[in-house]
Amino acid sequence: MSRRLLIVGLVVLAGLGTTVRTAVASHESVSVLLPGDPLQGSRLFTGKGCLRCHAVHGVGGTAGPDLGRRVLNRPLLEIAGVMWNHAPAMEHVFQEKRVPRPTFEPGEMASLLSFLYYLGSLDPPGDGAVGARLFSQKGCEICHSLGGKGGNLAPRLDTYGQYTSPLFLTAALWNRGKPMADAMRNRNIPRPTFQGTEIADLLAYTRSASGGTERIYVEPGKPKNGEALFGKKRCVECHSIGGHGGAVGPDLTTTLKGSLMRIAGSMWNHGPKMWAKMAERAIEVPALTTEEMSDLISYLYFFQFIDRPGDPRRGLVVYKEKRCGTCHAIRGVGEKVGPDLATGEKLDTSLEVITGMWNHAATMEEAMLGSNVAWPVLKGGEMADLIAYLLQARGGAPRPAAASGPQPKGKGR
Ligand code: HEC
Ligand code: HEC
Ligand code: HEC
Ligand code: HEC
Repeated sequence: MSRRLLIVGLVVLAGLGTTVRTAVASHESVSVLLPGDPLQGSRLFTGKGCLRCHAVHGVGGTAGPDLGRRVLNRPLLEIAGVMWNHAPAMEHVFQEKRVPRPTFEPGEMASLLSFLYYLGSLDPPGDGAVGARLFSQKGCEICHSLGGKGGNLAPRLDTYGQYTSPLFLTAALWNRGKPMADAMRNRNIPRPTFQGTEIADLLAYTRSASGGTERIYVEPGKPKNGEALFGKKRCVECHSIGGHGGAVGPDLTTTLKGSLMRIAGSMWNHGPKMWAKMAERAIEVPALTTEEMSDLISYLYFFQFIDRPGDPRRGLVVYKEKRCGTCHAIRGVGEKVGPDLATGEKLDTSLEVITGMWNHAATMEEAMLGSNVAWPVLKGGEMADLIAYLLQARGGAPRPAAASGPQPKGKGR
């Protein structure tokens, strides 16, 4: 029960979301992002027993690795690949511990993958002791007080202790950033910048120093909303996304790296130059609610980890190398130990293929042991390629060159 609350708390820390980015992902074979709900994914993570063996940042079981370590900061289909690769080792622990092996509907698999992807976007919880040092080093305490200690030139920061996510702090820092910068200039205090996990550390300190017990969560951000906000808040007038948009500031698909908090930190760090450019163009500094901040940076985070479109030709190579054909046929050509992958039911989308592979992994492993086939480990984009090949073999899938819309003849990639 308390575990469940904890994990739900974790989930709502910040944001992901997996609604499809239309421009890139209009085709299923590309499957840049699968439609899923990270919040539902977190419930499945608990409900299907993953938490019995896996911890997230130290909370949960220990039979499997802690999934809060940043192993999951990669594209969705690669995460599906990681899960697949570990299936046999997990299977053995399932049997040992007599935990029933969970199976999924495709929609559930989408949510679960969204949740795992979302875990990859978070930093570990901040360190309060480090935060306390930063609060003094960065000069915050000259103007602000916390737990009754510090200056009184600016609002007390105790209320921030009730927030579980550093996003509240980053949104406030952004919104109050300009008057704060003025106050600093007036007092000759250098404007601090934030690196790495410093914002999360500051939040951890705020929480311990304020002693509050109330907890206010924020829902995972939705990149789709972030995309709309990027236009509505006029970011697009200065920044490009993949070459589309303004050129006053950097193209944010090429410069931003790291977790949600790192992205929020770089927004703060570049604030003064941005405000100057906004003033030149008579653009008001856009106010952002916590949800909007969450949606916006989830959107920006997402570009680091776009699945490159799968390539059916490379997929065929993977299919052969991994010896799937030892047991499977494609349109009657091949062996019949397992179902025909071109004509079998419910294998029409990447999600269905991933789900089918996971749900049948135990039987497949047995068959593989029987026929001396090594467990096929899928690295990098191999899962995406394999899926592209299987979908094409079914005749339903577009070729990858069509991923970004119809291409002029002779100008393919
Ligand atoms: C009975 C224990 C057990 C359960 C339940 C379990 N796992 Fe695992 N999991 C493991 C073990 C053990 C490993 C490490 C396998 C290895 O070393 O190859 C692992 C590995 C993984 C990995 C790869 C992690 C890495 O560091 O590369 C992922 C992702 C994963 N599990 C996800 C899940 C999900 C999602 C669920 C719930 C559907 C789940 N696991 C349920 C035991 C379990
Ligand atoms: C030179 C004084 C000064 C320093 C140093 C300073 N601030 Fe501020 N801060 C202000 C002022 C003034 C405001 C109120 C601005 C306004 O709304 O007009 C403010 C507002 C805020 C707010 C929003 C508070 C609210 O409830 O509206 C937060 C959060 C905040 N500061 C955090 C910090 C942190 C964290 C640091 C250290 C990294 C810091 N400040 C350093 C002067 C300062
Ligand atoms: C008037 C032009 C302008 C607008 C509008 C604008 N920016 Fe910027 N932005 C810039 C400039 C210029 C820089 C680079 C500043 C520097 O070099 O310090 C920048 C830098 C950034 C960075 C840091 C990039 C990096 O490489 O680390 C982020 C993140 C960012 N902006 C996000 C946003 C978001 C989100 C919005 C909308 C809410 C926005 N910007 C609106 C001009 C703008
Ligand atoms: C040693 C034999 C063997 C190998 C090698 C093998 N499979 Fe299977 N596969 C099976 C069997 C048997 C089943 C049916 C399992 C069941 O009924 O639970 C199956 C089921 C599946 C399913 C689910 C089909 C459905 O109808 O839901 C998919 C998808 C699949 N395999 C893909 C692959 C891929 C991709 C490879 C290569 C990476 C592969 N298999 C390698 C034996 C194998």
